[in-house]
Amino acid sequence: MSLKDDLSKILIIDFGSQFTQLIARRIRELGVYSEIISHKKLNKKLDNIKIRGIILSGGPLNVYQSKKVKFNKSIFNLNIPILGICFGHQIISKELGGKVKKAKYREFGLAKLKSLKKSKLTDSFFKGKTSKHVWMSHADEVTKLPKGFKVIAKTDTSNFSIVENSQRKLYGIQFHPEVTHTENGIKILKNFIFSICKIRKNWSSKNQKQILTQEVKKSIGNSKVICALSGGVDSSVVAKLIHNAVGKQLTCIFVNTGLLRKNEEIQVIKTFKKKFKINLIYVDAKNLFLKNLKKEKDPEKKRKIIGKLFIKIFEKYAKKIQKVRFLAQGTLYPDLIESKSVTGSQTSKIKSHHNVRGLPKKMKLKLIEPLKFLFKDEVRKLGLELKLTKELVLRHPFPGPGLAIRIPGEITDDKIKILKEADHIFINSLREFNLYNKIWQAYAALLPVKTVGVMGDNRTYEYMCLLRAITSEDGMTADFFSFSKDFMQLVSNKIINNIKGINRVVYDITSKPPSTIELE
Ligand code: XMP
Repeated sequence: MSLKDDLSKILIIDFGSQFTQLIARRIRELGVYSEIISHKKLNKKLDNIKIRGIILSGGPLNVYQSKKVKFNKSIFNLNIPILGICFGHQIISKELGGKVKKAKYREFGLAKLKSLKKSKLTDSFFKGKTSKHVWMSHADEVTKLPKGFKVIAKTDTSNFSIVENSQRKLYGIQFHPEVTHTENGIKILKNFIFSICKIRKNWSSKNQKQILTQEVKKSIGNSKVICALSGGVDSSVVAKLIHNAVGKQLTCIFVNTGLLRKNEEIQVIKTFKKKFKINLIYVDAKNLFLKNLKKEKDPEKKRKIIGKLFIKIFEKYAKKIQKVRFLAQGTLYPDLIESKSVTGSQTSKIKSHHNVRGLPKKMKLKLIEPLKFLFKDEVRKLGLELKLTKELVLRHPFPGPGLAIRIPGEITDDKIKILKEADHIFINSLREFNLYNKIWQAYAALLPVKTVGVMGDNRTYEYMCLLRAITSEDGMTADFFSFSKDFMQLVSNKIINNIKGINRVVYDITSKPPSTIELE
């Protein structure tokens, strides 16, 4: 039996909200295991024994789009507490005999919620006051409640902001308790899971470490396993976890593409080979990557070249290890959840990601993905439990194709060298000024434009360096970070004074959307 099968859980039924994963994370942060399932997959019989509560998420649909809002309505008769959020609230009302209509006054952003009646769901939520600020995002609203339901709270423009049928343990809220803009919203989730669903805490990084180690040991047995180590958080945590479980049966392969951050290879060898004594094959493929990327300017083609070459090299070295049966990968829970196409529309491909997917099929290896039920923040906590350093575990994400997608246009050895230095200066300055952990991701890029400058009394004609630093919850949306002028000036001076080849520094002030985080 695997870790997740053994645990009581809160099941989140996803109707396509951008906040579904956030709900799941909030519940796990409260120490309770939660899982997400698409409403389209709810037709199978549910394993009721382990489900202590159900949350119906928000979503972009209208409750009357009956073809698109198909789901197993028998959940209302399971006698399991249900909390509907936004669209989830509307679907409960609609299915049980109430009415939902286009709202006269749409509510987007903050709204003042007024308390009307006591409820287990709002216990201590209002903190002795009669109103609270909550975050709304809806154009439809419930206009008539089903039989047996009562109103707990309202806003000036919406009459049914919190409703309940306490006897049937059904609750509906129009706003989003999971987002930080809702004051004290976490209290509502806490009340739902602990006082209404009566679930006990069962989720912490300590017990995850023990359970996952046991699981890995059991699945691998006496076989051998390989793992592609990249120096990033996910593959580092996987490698350390597997090493803890099966020791020398694990071999890691680390391919230096030449497109890594400054000194990354030294750091990986020091940590994994020297400190942890993990079997590590180090492949220096810098020249091969550079040769293959020569003259290529197209971002997608660059990604494909790097991805294919990586797999080829990995395969070559993996074959040298005798009797390997398993390939370990750092797949995370968000990679598994299908929540994007709830409206039926095809999500268009923006970028083809270079990861090691596709490897196991080709190599006839069994895949082992011990992190596949964890979110990134949980992987980080697990990493700390596994005694990986804070510096490694809290590292910003770094894309598979590495610096190649931060050098628009043709890639040369010279450009890579210049960029590595600039990035190093920027990231070190962030650490020095205690800004690194306030930022979700930061990097330097080298733009393929040369501009004129003056240094001393001489004319210069050199590259432009772009700095990017963003805040984000999950990389899906992002905003640029606001630095002080002093900090920006310091970094700009340091880069220009220390690196020959750059005479201008610019800061990227676009959010995502409309931009993406990386340049290519
Ligand atoms: P974008 O640029 O799409 O990036 O806004 C979102 C996040 O994904 C990272 N990224 C990648 N990660 N392989 C990866 O493993 C890739 O090919 C890749 N491309 C982008 C990016 O750094 C950001 O954190």
